[in-house]
Amino acid sequence: MSRVVIIGGSGHVGTYLVPRLVEAGFEVVNVSRGERQPYQPHAAWKDVRTVMLDRDAEEKAGTFGRNIRELKPDTVIDMICFRLDSAKHLVEALRGQVQQFLSCGTIWVHGPSIQVPAPESQKRRPFGEYGTQKAEIEAYLLDEARRSGFPATIAHPGHIVGPGWAPLNPAGHFNPKVFTTLARGEELALPNFGMETVHHVHADDVAQMFMRAIANWSASVGEAFHTVSPAAISLRGYAEAVAGWFGREPKLVFLPWPEWKARQTDEEAQATWEHIYRSPNSSIEKARRLIGYEPRYTSLEAVYESLTWLIEQGIVETK
Ligand SMILES: NC(=O)c1ccc[n+]([C@@H]2O[C@H](COP(=O)([O-])OP(=O)(O)OC[C@H]3O[C@@H](n4cnc5c(N)ncnc54)[C@H](OP(=O)(O)O)[C@@H]3O)[C@@H](O)[C@H]2O)c1
Repeated sequence: MSRVVIIGGSGHVGTYLVPRLVEAGFEVVNVSRGERQPYQPHAAWKDVRTVMLDRDAEEKAGTFGRNIRELKPDTVIDMICFRLDSAKHLVEALRGQVQQFLSCGTIWVHGPSIQVPAPESQKRRPFGEYGTQKAEIEAYLLDEARRSGFPATIAHPGHIVGPGWAPLNPAGHFNPKVFTTLARGEELALPNFGMETVHHVHADDVAQMFMRAIANWSASVGEAFHTVSPAAISLRGYAEAVAGWFGREPKLVFLPWPEWKARQTDEEAQATWEHIYRSPNSSIEKARRLIGYEPRYTSLEAVYESLTWLIEQGIVETK
């Protein structure tokens, strides 16, 4: 049996990826601190061994890479790498030891879009600590793969959606009250003309990408893949669709950014700015062509499933 060690396998993506790996016949070892539980129960978890390690503490002690190597993985999936020195530490420990090393990046390796849908080959213009570090990790891993044969593959998800947590909403932030506003047919203000874009992906489609990359080793090693739904959506189109799900005519008003920002909490305004300043719109053509990635969910289908869960929990009210 081929052994997959997944670092951070009990979160959004792991909830879907771990059962897929078990069902495909892999022996799965999940490395986490043991604090999080997957969002949904699945019988596959009884066949999964969890090894409790705190990556931050282990990295400080210089032992994380060695501990992962000692689990004797054939494949490592690193879901939670956020700094270049973390990636380097792990690669040095695993060099020559694994068949494949898959790392989770983000579409925020891109800054503002140029050509859209943006291909993976578009020049990187990241900003902010998170996107900049992820771009450095990507550049490092691709260089290692292409120069020294380290078998790295990178998946770059968009805004991850699924039942169990609040999706990025039509105002570009995470307050689920925006859905209540639309469901009740109340007025919603959007920044600018509402034409900036967001690009979601269902967590199960992120899981699909990792499975396709493992199944298509020779096509995926040394490559990075956008991991998103088939098409980005504008804030306006997103808001109109959500209102329509509740039989409402959307009551949208559009405000210049400074006015719109003044009506939000600082946290909401910052989240929206981070999303619409980038306005991601990513191409999946390369993943389709090279490894047969075919998302099951459009952006709106993914959000619909997540919103249904929010309503069932009473977090979003429809009356
Ligand atoms: N969320 C998004 O919309 C989004 C978008 C693009 C890219 N991404 C990327 O997706 C990846 C995160 O995947 P996810 O959303 O599935 O993860 P997640 O839901 O945040 O779950 C994190 C996982 O890592 C474990 N973990 C956290 N801190 C740890 C530590 N110090 N040591 C060991 N384990 C630790 C958690 O378990 P314990 O808490 O039990 O340790 C859990 O299994 C990141 O690389 C992120 O950049 C996310």
